[in-house]
Amino acid sequence: MNDKLNNATQFVEILMECFVKKGQICVDATAGNGKDTLTLANFVGDSGLVYSFDIQKEAIKNTEELLLQKKIRHRVELIPNSHVDIQEFITRKIDFVVYNLGYLPGGDKSIRTDAGTTIESIKNTLEIMAPGAIMLITAYRGHEGGLLEYESVKGITEELDQKKYNVFEFTFINQKNNPPVTIGVEVRGGKTWQR
Ligand SMILES: C[S@@+](CC[C@H](N)C(=O)[O-])C[C@H]1O[C@@H](n2cnc3c(N)ncnc32)[C@H](O)[C@@H]1O
Repeated sequence: MNDKLNNATQFVEILMECFVKKGQICVDATAGNGKDTLTLANFVGDSGLVYSFDIQKEAIKNTEELLLQKKIRHRVELIPNSHVDIQEFITRKIDFVVYNLGYLPGGDKSIRTDAGTTIESIKNTLEIMAPGAIMLITAYRGHEGGLLEYESVKGITEELDQKKYNVFEFTFINQKNNPPVTIGVEVRGGKTWQR
C-alpha cells in the first residue's frame, strides 16, 4: 500500500519521526509486539533510552525478540509491569510517550487496557513529562470497553489547562466502523523546535 496516511499507526509514526530526537528519553506504555518500541528506539539512538511497559510476558518476549533481531536491545528497558506504576520505574523527566490501547494483536483479547488504569496511568505520566514533551494515546472504540476507555481519555485530556498543554484529537472522519482515535498532549514551554 502506498498511502501515507491510511491509519492511526501511520499518523503516530509520522509524529514520532518528526519529534523524537537522538538522546531523548521515551516511553512505550503498551509494548505489545514491540513495533512502537522499535520505532522509538531507532529515533533515540544509542544516547537515548526507551522504557517499554507491558503486563503480558508474551508481549515483553515479542518486543525483546524484535529488538534483538534489529540489534538495538540495549536502547530499551523492558518493564513487565502495568504502566500505572510508571513513577516507580522512571524517576526522570521524559520527552515522548505513546499509548496504543486495547489488546495484544494476535493474543488474548480479554487481556486489554482498561479505562480506570489507563486514566490513572496518564495522570501519573503527565507529572513526569518535561516541558515540550508529547504524549500520544491511540484508542480503539470498536471492542468491548473501548468506547468507554476512549471517552474517559478524552474526558481528562480535554480538561487540561490550555495555558499549560496543547491537546488535539485525530481520526479519519470518512472511515466506517469506528476508526481509532489518536489524542495528543504537548506540555507547553519546550525549547524552540527545529525540524
Ligand atoms: C494494542 S497492544 C499494543 C501494540 C504495540 N504498541 C505494538 O506496536 O505492537 C496493547 C498492549 O497493552 C498491554 N496492556 C494492557 N494493559 C496494560 C497495562 N495496564 N500496562 C501496560 N500494558 C498493558 C496489553 O498486554 C497489550 O500488549
